[in-house]
Amino acid sequence: MMEILRTVAEVRQWSRKERNDGGNTIGLVPTMGALHAGHASLIRAARAASGFVVVSIFVNPTQFGPNEDYERYPRNLEADCALAEAVGADVIFAPSVEELYPAGAATFVEVEGLSDRLDGHSRPGHFRGVATVVAKLLIATEANRAFFGQKDAAQVAVLRRMVADMRLATEIVVCPIVREADGLALSSRNSYLSAEERGQALVLSRSVRLVEVMAAGGERHAKVLIEAARKCFTAEARVRVDYIELVNWATLEPMESVAPGSLFAVAGWVGATRLIDNAILE
Ligand code: PAJ
Repeated sequence: MMEILRTVAEVRQWSRKERNDGGNTIGLVPTMGALHAGHASLIRAARAASGFVVVSIFVNPTQFGPNEDYERYPRNLEADCALAEAVGADVIFAPSVEELYPAGAATFVEVEGLSDRLDGHSRPGHFRGVATVVAKLLIATEANRAFFGQKDAAQVAVLRRMVADMRLATEIVVCPIVREADGLALSSRNSYLSAEERGQALVLSRSVRLVEVMAAGGERHAKVLIEAARKCFTAEARVRVDYIELVNWATLEPMESVAPGSLFAVAGWVGATRLIDNAILE
């Protein structure tokens, strides 16, 4: 059985020992658990690039809004440990809330500007919580590399900015979106969907795919691409659009036309479940 570390002191000790005595580089895969094949792809990438792989499992309360799904977010540490071990994790870091947010904790990391765009616009305070917890995880593990999914593209932009601004030593590695056979991007929140909603949710990947094909065919105009995606959503009236945007992936500012590094991103409500998807248009 793989070791489950519960305290910052323990994970820091393991990490330093592996680096200093073992000569290993440290790879960190931050997660909130309910692991699926998307998480597994990150752990495999970390395994391939690192001597020692830490997978953190922590449902971070500060990144959930007051009316969001913190309480009912799926938690299954045993199954998560088995999956993580099978694809190459060396240890699990699963701290308690009190361990990462000690009594009286008053320190937060705020990436200004970026944190109010895309998901941050519809989820005020979300990226403040993400940046804060990821900073704590990077500092605790002293990871050489940390692995994130392109699935959460705005999160990647916020964390890249944070690492650059804070002069942190960790390299951010971004891994491709893992999808179901029919295109749906894997997400821990897909487990909330009814069979009917599961079908409706395909409008996200369908709209992203359409825009990718249009862009590959030479369409450059944001207006035209966004309008085409919006039509997909109109045809699936039971899914409520949160945003459809073409932005610069580094700044998350809207772009009028496709350029290298543009991010096309969508978010929508399928019943009570908010899902996201995106593509990088080169
Ligand atoms: P979580 O939603 O558990 O996701 C953990 C990591 O898995 C993120 O980097 C996310 O982008 C990646 N991921 C999720 N679905 C994916 C998919 N279909 N393909 C590829 N990668 C995928 O993101 C978080 O947790 C949290 O915000 C966290 C960074 C852990 C901070 O609390």
